[in-house]
Amino acid sequence: MTRPPKILIFDSGLGGLTVFAELVKLRPHADYLYCADDAGFPYGSWKEPELVERVAKLMEAQIADHAPDMVVIACNTASTIVLPYLRVHWPSLPFVGTVPAIKPAAERTRSKMISVLGTPGTVARDYTQNLIAQFAAHCSVTLVGSKRLASLAESHMHGERASDADIVNEIAPCFREEGGRRTDAVALACTHYPLLVEEFERLAPWPVEWIDPAPAIARRADQLLGERFGPDVARDQPASRRAIFTSGARPSGPLAATLARYGLAWDVAPTPASERA
Ligand code: DGL
Repeated sequence: MTRPPKILIFDSGLGGLTVFAELVKLRPHADYLYCADDAGFPYGSWKEPELVERVAKLMEAQIADHAPDMVVIACNTASTIVLPYLRVHWPSLPFVGTVPAIKPAAERTRSKMISVLGTPGTVARDYTQNLIAQFAAHCSVTLVGSKRLASLAESHMHGERASDADIVNEIAPCFREEGGRRTDAVALACTHYPLLVEEFERLAPWPVEWIDPAPAIARRADQLLGERFGPDVARDQPASRRAIFTSGARPSGPLAATLARYGLAWDVAPTPASERA
């Protein structure tokens, strides 16, 4: 195939930009469409059947409108329940998901005490329990479902600073001490959280490894693209990098500046997808 691949990256909000930024490093010449379901944000508190239905509907519209060659579900909360549905309904379209980085956390910990910091939805999933049973049975695992961190990360991307006290409240339950051992690895199981990792490092009661799965997800996507499209190749036309928001809202000045930093232009008009969601 000679044309560049078109990649759809999907999240409830801006967290998926952490994955987008890593994939762009590996595939700078691909075309990208970043879709944020800001009308449905936050996903963390949605009931499972409703969330599956919403994401399925949005995907149907986005795939019909944009015909992507690959979809990256850059959202743990959605990936941990909708991937099987998506793969059955679009069997020839590759879907790359984002699931809690429990395996790398369990491999890297020395104290055998790890925490999984995700949305309330993600930490409650059977999928997460299965990952723990499969890869972290030898560890003491603390699941922390944060109600506010994704929103604090969104605000950060809109140019508003989260207070230290608010961040400390959300990350504090990750830090456990038991019989002379203490937590030394925290899986960031929501794509929004790496956006605040510098604050986490500054505010942590002791240093831990914060595990951001974005580079590994990008490598997986790059590998699948390589199998279908070959290596990333420079071309005459500049690559297309656009963001759409299901609310149809025009990005505020600070958000527009953030998107520009990521090299993303945005579509102002509501997409047909958002009208159908
Ligand atoms: N970024 C999403 C995730 O990875 C969830 C944020 C939310 O909508 O609550 O889980």
